[in-house]
Amino acid sequence: MDRASFKGKDYISTADWSVEELGEALDVSKELKAAFRNNEPHRLLPDKTLFMIFLDLSTRTRNAFEAGMTQLGGHAHFIDAGTSQIAHGEAPRDMGIILGSYGHGIAIRHDKVPGEGNAYMREVAAAAEVPIINLQCDIDHPTQQIADLMTIEEHFGTRDLSGMKICVSWAFAPSYAKPMSVPQGLALLLPRFGAELTIARPPEFRLQTGVMEQAHELAAEGGGSIVEVEDMDAGFEGATVVYPKSWGAEHLFGKEQEALALNARYKDWICDSRRMGIAAKDSIYMHCLPADRGNEVTDEVIDGEQSVVFQEAENRLHTGKALMALTMGGYA
Ligand code: CP
Repeated sequence: MDRASFKGKDYISTADWSVEELGEALDVSKELKAAFRNNEPHRLLPDKTLFMIFLDLSTRTRNAFEAGMTQLGGHAHFIDAGTSQIAHGEAPRDMGIILGSYGHGIAIRHDKVPGEGNAYMREVAAAAEVPIINLQCDIDHPTQQIADLMTIEEHFGTRDLSGMKICVSWAFAPSYAKPMSVPQGLALLLPRFGAELTIARPPEFRLQTGVMEQAHELAAEGGGSIVEVEDMDAGFEGATVVYPKSWGAEHLFGKEQEALALNARYKDWICDSRRMGIAAKDSIYMHCLPADRGNEVTDEVIDGEQSVVFQEAENRLHTGKALMALTMGGYA
């Protein structure tokens, strides 16, 4: 595939890219990981600037992109939205045009409020003349999901996930309003590579209807499937990959006390060694991190041999670099 053709392309959802384009991004990620490990220079974006706008906190995403941009020979400029005019309501269109005129890419995290972040990014993308990268919105977390897929490929030696049962499960955390973007992003991506995805969740924690309709359509095209169950054990049974994490109940966003009370009804939705025993013998445990230790997962599991969470977190760097290099003209 012609890598130059990616120049200027937005990356707002994996669904916006073809399976072949995503595969190319994975190939680039693999090359850049080897170059990083071997200390080989890979300054694909010399003197380029990425503006990174954050409306929420971050450890992995900010630092993977910031360090990654340095390693590519450019500069990632961090913008705390709360200290910019974005906090005063500056139009996304105006901001996109202006920052686009100062640099070569804009990356945005806007994930806290259902209905806002993805629409905001699409508005910026319509106006800006540089690529827009979604660092997590209300719908999707596509820079996380491509790192997840890279990790699965590294572990099992293939990105053809045909016949592989992957369980994305809700898990308990005593916290409020976590985005639905990770489970939704996994549903949008993995079945396109053939995965048999099972989403396990209590009845109140349904994912967004429109997103799931899109995920089912994409799954049908890719040869994978999606089923939903309301029992964590049933989800784990025979799964080759388990990805248990907390997310918020959409109907309770803005109702913190009710949301916390609902979560507390499902404290037994934890990934522990008993549940890992229900999964396939060679299964792996994944989490985008940060994990809520002792609630979502036991230390025994997250620190155990089946856990790949640190490899998964490291792959945020390599995949982030691949996405920046491709979309910002590193191969053009
Ligand atoms: N997984 C992830 O996006 O981590 P951060 O919130 O720390 O960026």
